[in-house]
This record gives sequence, C-alpha cells and structure tokens, in this order.
Amino acid sequence: MARLAHIQRAITAALALLAPAHHVSAKPARLMSAPSAERPGQKPLRSGLDADPAGIAGFVSLGDSYSAGIGTGVDGVEVNCRLGLHGYPALIYADLSRHAAPYAPPPAFQWRSCTGATANGLLHAEGQIASLNHSLPADFATLSIGGNDLGFFDVINACVFRFYSYYSGTCDAALRRAADLVASPDFELRLQVALLELLDNVQWERHPRFAVAVTGYARFFGAASPECDDLSLGVWWGGPKLSRALRTEMNSLVLAANSKLRSVVERVNERFAGARPKALFVDYDAGFGGHRFCEPGVGEPDYSRNDTWFFLVGGPDNGESSTVDSNVQAPSDLLLVDPHSCLEPARESGDWGLLATCYMAMAKQRDPTLQPAGSMIRPQEENSGWYVPTSYAKVFHPVGRL
Ligand SMILES: *[C@@H]1O[C@H](CO)[C@@H](O)[C@H](O)[C@H]1NC(C)=O
Ligand SMILES: *[C@@H]1O[C@H](CO)[C@@H](O)[C@H](O)[C@H]1NC(C)=O
Repeated sequence: MARLAHIQRAITAALALLAPAHHVSAKPARLMSAPSAERPGQKPLRSGLDADPAGIAGFVSLGDSYSAGIGTGVDGVEVNCRLGLHGYPALIYADLSRHAAPYAPPPAFQWRSCTGATANGLLHAEGQIASLNHSLPADFATLSIGGNDLGFFDVINACVFRFYSYYSGTCDAALRRAADLVASPDFELRLQVALLELLDNVQWERHPRFAVAVTGYARFFGAASPECDDLSLGVWWGGPKLSRALRTEMNSLVLAANSKLRSVVERVNERFAGARPKALFVDYDAGFGGHRFCEPGVGEPDYSRNDTWFFLVGGPDNGESSTVDSNVQAPSDLLLVDPHSCLEPARESGDWGLLATCYMAMAKQRDPTLQPAGSMIRPQEENSGWYVPTSYAKVFHPVGRL
C-alpha cells in the first residue's frame, strides 16, 4: 500500500502534467486523487515520466527529513542526514530504473536531502544546491523545504512531547511564532530565492523541460473526534493533552505552510511567464485522510495500526518487528548525550533526534526527579532506546512501510 509511496505517486503525477501530450497515457488527475500501489504482475501505472522512462536521464532530490525518508530503514549504518531506504526519492529512483530502456544505464540520482535542512541552508556555499554535480544529467528535481524554517520541531516539542519538560516553553508561544513566520515576507522570500537559485544552478535556460516538484506537508491529526482529548504523548509525566483545539491548531499550521509553498511556486512561475511552469506544488495532504494520528476509533498511541502513516517515537516500519530500531546502528558518539555540550551541535544540525535527546538529557539534569511517562517507555526500549536519536528524529514523519 501507499505511504511514502503515496507521495511518490503524487510527485510522478504532477510531473506527468508537464510531459508532452503523446507521452501521457493515463489521466494524471486520476492518479493524483487515487494513487494505488503497484503489485507484482500488475501493469505499472503510466505517467508522463514512466511512459517514457528512457527520456529521464537523471534527477536530483533536495530538502529536509521528509524527503530523506527518515526512519524507513538503512542498509548498514545510518548516515547523519538520515536517508532512509524507502524515502520517496529512493522510490522514484527505483521506479525509473525498473522502467529504463533495455541496456540503458540507470538514471543519475543525486540525493542531497538532509534532516534539519532549511531554505537558508540550501543556499549556503556548501549547501545542497551548491553540491550538485553538473556533469550528471537532471531532468527534474524534488524539493521538501520550509518545515524547519517554521520551527515544526519547536511546535511538536512544546505542544506534544515536551522533551525539555517545563523549559520547553508554552505551546501557544510556539504556535504563535510559527504562525508569524509562515505569514512573514521573509519566509516567502527565502523560499523564492531557494527555488530560483536551484533553477539557476541547473541552468534552466539550457533545459527547458526541467521542473522542480515542491512537496508540502500533511496534517498530523484527525481533529474532529474526541479520542485523543485526554491523551498525552509527553515524554515526562504530566504532559499536555492532545485536545481537539490543539490538534486543529497544529493542523492549521500545516495548511498555512502548504498554502504558502503553493503561492511561492505560483510567484516563481510568474517570473517565467509564457514558458512551461518551472515549479509544481505537490499537495499530498488529502491522501493522508484517515491515516493521521487520533483518527476516530483509534486508541493512541497505537504502534500496531498499519493505517497510521506517521511515526510515533520508535514506531515500526517496513516489516520490522517490535524492536524497531535495533537493526539501526546509531553512530556510537550519539548514543550518550552530554547535557552540558549537546545543544549547540543539535541546533546546528537541526536534527529532531539530536534536539530531542539533548533536551531530555538537559531536562533530567536540571530536574533529576523527572519521571518518563508510562506511554513513552516500551519494554524493549527501556535500556537501549532512550538515547537512540532516530527513535525521536522520525516522529511525525511519514512511514514507508510497504
Ligand atoms: C561528478 O560526476 C562525474 C560523473 O559521474 C564524476 O566523474 C565526478 O567525479 C563527479 N564530481 C564530483 C565533484 O563528485
Ligand atoms: C500490520 O502489518 C504487519 C506486517 O504486515 C502485520 O504483521 C500486523 O498484524 C499488522 N497489524 C495489524 C493491527 O493489522
């Protein structure tokens, strides 16, 4: 079934809209509204991309942890950027490779996504855009950006987990900061500059068919039903309750981010008036309906519900059994967190897992009597999992789970 595959389908369908008419052998609109997973022996879905895979010589994927496929499995040791085997860029690559013309080389694939990435970070002299290799072909790009600029982690920390206990700040303040940021001209400008810089970097004048698929985010919660009103996912005893009002506000932040991303894409395309659109906004939120946290009839936290498409702390993915993170070797220097020195590097990286584990270590140091909330400790994690950052880095990210 679809999860991250759902996002992959939405991107493919959006890009298919740009394909020349004779390449499009299915109705992209239908693909977008009702993506379905491919099954062995079933004819692959046709889009402008995979109808003519030989036409795709390569692509690049940039952005934050949502495009890194965080938590979806690694082959060996996890890299610092937390690229996961089932991130949607990897799924797109696998699809293109599978459908490549006989004897053709696999498409070039530059996966620069990294957990913690911000729009500013993309633009650094040593950032993701500057790191692209111009000797490799790129027919399109995918980009997931904005959530870290808006402080999604701060909101999730202050309103849901409260890793830093009382010192996390109030949920209202975090939500207000994010709402101010999403409405700020500065945020809009940074996104625009990042998109234009990417187009410049790939020399769009010489590649008239090049386009960037900009993915949004999905609302985290079913907000209509009372199921979670008395539930807390706080990591320490006495954490905040996930009331309908709170869930609605967090959902609104996601919608505001999506709406801003969509308008930035439109602004950028206006600058290339007359030409094909250079950027496409891929809105996959609706497809997550019924697959969020706190859906009607679901008793959260429900680690066994395969129909929830977001990770809880340490939640399972892709056929892993209950000891979820046991096959992920965290770099050993991350296993123990020094509350005196962890914060600056964690902030620098923007990695949610480093931030969460650092805040927990700092909270415990400031207040040794703090007790972990019962819902947070699952038996298999009691000894080893507490300081495995991936367990925390992947919270509220889409699962891969095939
Ligand atoms: C860029 O890609 C080419 C072709 O694969 C490769 O030979 C070259 O080493 C790459 N350059 C860098 C800086 O990685
Ligand atoms: C979720 O999927 C796994 C793997 O397919 C399966 O073993 C498990 O029973 C499923 N859980 C539920 C609640 O259906």
